[in-house]
Amino acid sequence: MDCSTKKELYADFIEVYRSLILNEHNAIGVMANTTALIKETFDFFWIGFYIVDSGELVLGPFQGSTACFRIKKGRGVCGTAWDQGKTLVVDDVTTFPGHIACNALSRSEIVVPVTHKGTVTAVLDIDSDRLSAFDEVDRQGLEEAMRIMAETIYPPTT
Ligand code: SME
Repeated sequence: MDCSTKKELYADFIEVYRSLILNEHNAIGVMANTTALIKETFDFFWIGFYIVDSGELVLGPFQGSTACFRIKKGRGVCGTAWDQGKTLVVDDVTTFPGHIACNALSRSEIVVPVTHKGTVTAVLDIDSDRLSAFDEVDRQGLEEAMRIMAETIYPPTT
């Protein structure tokens, strides 16, 4: 897919996503439909949330095969993205020190933190069965989606 087509796909996705989750504040429900819409829109292998709970990441809503339940801070791609508070794009998961292989088919990965009041509350984890599946267009589109999601599940009064 060329870059402009992918940008257009993300622009359409963001528009549909905004209206899908509009005014719904239940985090689990919103996360569940977020993974479903990403699955329906893009050809990714595994899409899911890990939610910060009692000092570790705990498996949340996802689309795909079974996955590990808990990840410690600084461990794997998810725990590192949480620790650093920034998006990580891994072109080849075999080169990432400490990568946690939940499924042998996974080749590349992107992890996008969800933040509330400057603190990471969850991460969105997406795996692909292709090498280098994620680029700057994915990073920008998914970060925008996670900003919209955070504004929705954490309204200004919370
Ligand atoms: N690969 C992740 C673990 C989660 S699974 O991919 C679903 C990691 O290294 O953090």
